[in-house]
Amino acid sequence: MSSLDLTRPIPQHIGIIMDGNGRWAKKRFLPRYIGHQKARSSVRKVVAHSAKLGVKALTLYAFSTENWKRPADEVTKLMSLFLDALQREVSKLHENNVRLRVIGDRSAFSLAIQEHINDAEVLTNNNTGLALNIAANYGGRWDIVEACKAWKDAHPEADISELTPDAISPFLALADLPEPDLMIRTGGEQRISNFMIWQMAYAEFYFTDRLWPDFNEKDLELAMVSYQQRERRFGRTSEQVATC
Ligand code: IPE
Ligand code: IPE
Ligand code: MG
Repeated sequence: MSSLDLTRPIPQHIGIIMDGNGRWAKKRFLPRYIGHQKARSSVRKVVAHSAKLGVKALTLYAFSTENWKRPADEVTKLMSLFLDALQREVSKLHENNVRLRVIGDRSAFSLAIQEHINDAEVLTNNNTGLALNIAANYGGRWDIVEACKAWKDAHPEADISELTPDAISPFLALADLPEPDLMIRTGGEQRISNFMIWQMAYAEFYFTDRLWPDFNEKDLELAMVSYQQRERRFGRTSEQVATC
């Protein structure tokens, strides 16, 4: 297995579907929430290592619009872990010049969570290091619908025929960042589960059986090595790409 070549392109924006927490716990005969608890150390590792390797943006899928369908006690536990992470991790992220943003419909969260999100975003807004985005109560379908509504609000007189991909792109979540170059999913499933379905149109996908609580710096590098071996054609032919 070759190692990461720092002279070759590094993905500017990486998206990660952090999956497998429940199975990690189950394998150890532990309750599922222990897997969610353990997930935080993988997040810390990946955030620090991404910044170190020069990744500009990292978007982590933490809770989907569909995850409300889980048993109530698991949802409650996930919410309390989210609040705890906001309370304990933000000052360190700020010290490390990380700009934190949360994407998704935050109106469904408790007021305490909403306040901590707002405070964290204000605190870190001028940071110039890694752009760290947490997708929470996020769904790609929700994102696209919100973008269409925002486009209509911005152009009340416009005709629907003016609604084009280029017209709505600026209204999607994270429109100010480059679209994800690399999407990593841990936990062995090979699906997108409603994560940034618009923005991932040309992302390179990397699936690994590693469960998220076991994911570490080396695993991140393996995904990036795989990325470096891909030919990104964006609709063109291989010959065209070679002469670019
Ligand atoms: C991902 O791990 C975390 C969330 C979706 C919140 P899972 O909880 O989905 O773990 P598995 O897939 O059941 O192992
Ligand atoms: C996707 O994982 C959502 C997050 C990782 C937050 P799920 O475990 O919810 O996805 P499915 O249900 O297996 O597709
Ligand atoms: Mg899962």
